[in-house]
Amino acid sequence: MNTIIRPLLFVTPCDQKPPRYGSPTGILYFCAMAETTHGFIPLQHTPLDSSTALERAREFYQLLDRRRTVREFSDRPVARELIELILKTASTAPSGANKQPWTFCVVSNPEVKAKIREAAEKEEYENYHGRMSDEWLKDLEKFGTDWHKPFLTTAPYLIVVFKKAYDRNAAGEKEKNYYVNESVGLASGNLISAIHNAGLVTVTHTPSPMNFLQKVLDRPDNERPFLLLPVGYPAEDAQVPKISRKGLEEISVWYE
Ligand SMILES: Cc1cc2nc3c(=O)[nH]c(=O)nc-3n(C[C@H](O)[C@H](O)[C@H](O)COP(=O)(O)O)c2cc1C
Repeated sequence: MNTIIRPLLFVTPCDQKPPRYGSPTGILYFCAMAETTHGFIPLQHTPLDSSTALERAREFYQLLDRRRTVREFSDRPVARELIELILKTASTAPSGANKQPWTFCVVSNPEVKAKIREAAEKEEYENYHGRMSDEWLKDLEKFGTDWHKPFLTTAPYLIVVFKKAYDRNAAGEKEKNYYVNESVGLASGNLISAIHNAGLVTVTHTPSPMNFLQKVLDRPDNERPFLLLPVGYPAEDAQVPKISRKGLEEISVWYE
């Protein structure tokens, strides 16, 4: 394990949050603090016997196979703690250089939801009336969707996933993020699975272009909207399109 001794500015007791590096306002006193630059810890790994592994793999597949995109929501409230756990699960995703380049904006305020719906429907109206190709419109027919998006105000929560094109460190300097789309896509997959696992439903909504979300939610320049996920319980009479998933032979190629 490598450690370095680094003098820090403005440190009062050593157990307090470190100050911003390079602060120009003068030196109070120095505190030599051992900082771990990197290190390793033992992996927490529970080996499974082959029948338990198979059983768990099958159960997990069956759980996720029951996930469906739902576009008809109930206004039944959802516990905030559930949403918090779901977000923590999303954020366990791997990310390029562990930059975790995502922000999840959680909207339950009815006025903000109404603003988002109004702006999304405006974009979707344009999409369905000229911006989408005939092929695209034909591909969407089986979903019965149009520019109306009532779920944006009915669902108790809207989670807006933002990707961080770059970051800013404590001194306000730009820092690079890597594989941002891949990383945020993986976190969003976790998020959608966690929503389903908690007995809730969502629709992956992409009211393109989505930059209105940056304005409505007052997000900084380095954040770009990625997905909009209404979260809640399904309406009692909710229906989903009759579609199927590709078989293993269509989605895999094996080199044995
Ligand atoms: C990136 C992405 C964007 C999507 N955008 C929309 C959307 O804007 N509106 C919508 O109703 N569904 C949207 N969907 C949902 C898909 O239509 C849905 O996932 C697909 O039909 C498969 O159905 P399932 O999720 O029930 O398995 C989107 C899905 C993905 C992955």
